[in-house]
Amino acid sequence: MSRETTLDKIVSLAKRRGFVFPGSEIYGGFAGTYDWGPLGVELRRNVVDTWLRAMKCHDNIAQLDSSIFTAPRVWEASGHVSGFNDPLVVCLSCHSKLRADHLLEAVGVVADEKMSEEELNRLFDGAREKVHCPVCSKQKFGRVVQKNLMATSTLGKFSDEDEEVYLRAETAQGIFINYKNVLDSGFYSIPFGIAQVGKAFRNEISPRQFLFRKREFEQMEMQYFVSPVEAPHAYEEWRKERFAYYDLLGITQEKLQWKRHENLVFYAKDAWDIQYEYPFGWSELEGVHYRGDYDLSQHQKFSGVDMSYLDPDTKDRYIPHVIETSVGVDRTVLMVLCESYSEDEMNGEKRVVLRLHPRMAPVKAAVFPLLKNKPDLVSKAREVYAMLKKSEPRVMWDDNGNIGKRYRRQDEIGTPVCITIDFQTLEDGSVTVRSRDTGEQIRVASSELPKLIGS
Ligand code: GAP
Repeated sequence: MSRETTLDKIVSLAKRRGFVFPGSEIYGGFAGTYDWGPLGVELRRNVVDTWLRAMKCHDNIAQLDSSIFTAPRVWEASGHVSGFNDPLVVCLSCHSKLRADHLLEAVGVVADEKMSEEELNRLFDGAREKVHCPVCSKQKFGRVVQKNLMATSTLGKFSDEDEEVYLRAETAQGIFINYKNVLDSGFYSIPFGIAQVGKAFRNEISPRQFLFRKREFEQMEMQYFVSPVEAPHAYEEWRKERFAYYDLLGITQEKLQWKRHENLVFYAKDAWDIQYEYPFGWSELEGVHYRGDYDLSQHQKFSGVDMSYLDPDTKDRYIPHVIETSVGVDRTVLMVLCESYSEDEMNGEKRVVLRLHPRMAPVKAAVFPLLKNKPDLVSKAREVYAMLKKSEPRVMWDDNGNIGKRYRRQDEIGTPVCITIDFQTLEDGSVTVRSRDTGEQIRVASSELPKLIGS
């Protein structure tokens, strides 16, 4: 099975079984957007809850939910208005809008993020003979132009003279502008972190690879504020923790690797990404970056508000340094789907199975009556189902088709166990529990079920 086939199969399963739907599908779609279906909502929530739980294990991590809209100056201070660009080139044959750096990368030419438009055009001109449009295969392109990725809005803007308003391009800026508020609340002192989960918006030139590059997406970011002296050690600790974290999601360590940024942006002291081996190759999942005092200094400069911290013990005054961990919810869900998708054969029948870690599974168990037309079985099964649902709402009732079909359907959505209520249940209260991964069936007392499914 080729890598691209796997992604196609995942996209198709995600739609068929209600994980992810293309955005605005009945109107022909809307590029860079996807809608979470019933199972996707649960899987996404499992991803977010696991991340938040890992953050909350630290007693010095605060939470925040800042607004999507902020004063425009925030994005001038952060450098996004002037420097958050991607190079756009248009195919003159099919009019597709493409990322010039991605086209160059495909022919082995690396464009530096810091290059000016002139430099990019020189680089592109030098490689024109090798570059093909990925949509129509032709080789006629226009000039490369730098396009700002900030999405704009008319919120509170009533005339052309009113300032340009932006949707946030990262949740991090909401954290920086609230750092003082959290500190002044009196429960935290340096070192401490602020964690936030929320939507971000970017005018991506070519959204692609399913959930990997969207225009509306979600980030889980944590900014750790620390003294300049302690920052290098804290950075190493966070790097170790974030890499080990993916075990909780059932990701094999061999499918993860570190990649150091070769060209550091001028303010970054060090920058590493955790990459996952997606079906389209090793790509960024999470950034763990040491940003120095750049962000707080910029906001101090632009807002006039003092961002320094007075150490109560040493009496040193400094602008805290920032260590950032930043990962996309969508890229994590895509990784979890890629990691768990498999095709195998069970009892001589081919099946598709999502071998999701139980923590990630959107449905923790499915409950079936052996036969749907036997009232005694159905009522006993309903009783077991209601009992389980009280302690774990993520259980599913399924009486559609024969048992084999129900197993296949539950395998496809990654349900770890299926519970069947049969004639013996009526006699002794025991039920059959069938494992998704091995197909093995065991009999257990129905009173044992809540413990067995971990609720
Ligand atoms: N505050 C730092 C920051 O925003 P970034 O590398 O631009 O850094 C962080 O984004 C993470 O957000 C990425 O590692 C990725 O997981 C996710 N992300 C970024 N752009 C995305 C997009 N267009 N679609 C989906 N996820 C995206």
